[in-house]
Amino acid sequence: MKITEVDDYQAMSRAAADLVVERVRSNPQLILGLATGSTPLGLYQHLIDDYNRSGTSYRHVTTFNLDEYVGLSEQDPNSYHYFMNQYLFNHIDIEKTNTYIPKGNAQDLEKECSVFEERLKEHGGVDLQILGIGGNGHIGFNEPGTSFYSRTHLVDLTLSTREANERFFANLNEVPIRAVSMGIETIMESKEILLLISGEKKRDALHQLLHGEIDESFPASILREHPNTTVIFDKAAAGGGK
Ligand code: PGA
Repeated sequence: MKITEVDDYQAMSRAAADLVVERVRSNPQLILGLATGSTPLGLYQHLIDDYNRSGTSYRHVTTFNLDEYVGLSEQDPNSYHYFMNQYLFNHIDIEKTNTYIPKGNAQDLEKECSVFEERLKEHGGVDLQILGIGGNGHIGFNEPGTSFYSRTHLVDLTLSTREANERFFANLNEVPIRAVSMGIETIMESKEILLLISGEKKRDALHQLLHGEIDESFPASILREHPNTTVIFDKAAAGGGK
């Protein structure tokens, strides 16, 4: 893992955007893996700013998102379909038909998982995957205890993850209890991974990522075995600064 410490959230977002823009420019047909949550919002805003300023084109880029809640329609403001449209896709020249997000409202969710894997395979896998990390070490919605050999699958969300995401919903009861998530093995097949970690709430997670054991009880730990992963974290996550 290549590790970079930066001052704050803005610096992390800028450094991440520089890397993504560079990869898109050197490969206009990039297969880009995307994440949701608070962490990548700054990155997405920088990509939009760069698109407006420099015209970096996403017309031939294909994206695959890590996960989606089960039971929410694509129009639901809490769905990750809605999130991606609102915070990125509506503001750049990407073709919506080239964006893949697991369908959390599919009739047959098991089939949806295999269809998603099939699409990924057809595209030759992800070139660059953006990741955040849960306070409990989850990547995507792969909660502690998930097999390192998992493929795209249906998951039961832990209470800690549902509580962490409660802020977006009316109350905890509204937070879905299941999700579809790319598996850990699926994520590990990405040719390159960019993991972003910001804020003091992620201090323990960053510490465990860097110093803990590689173990399924802390899903992100497997990234230490990935040949091309960059971690960008800010001082607050590292335990100093703001
Ligand atoms: P966050 O979530 O970016 O909202 O902190 C990250 C995650 O749970 O993977």
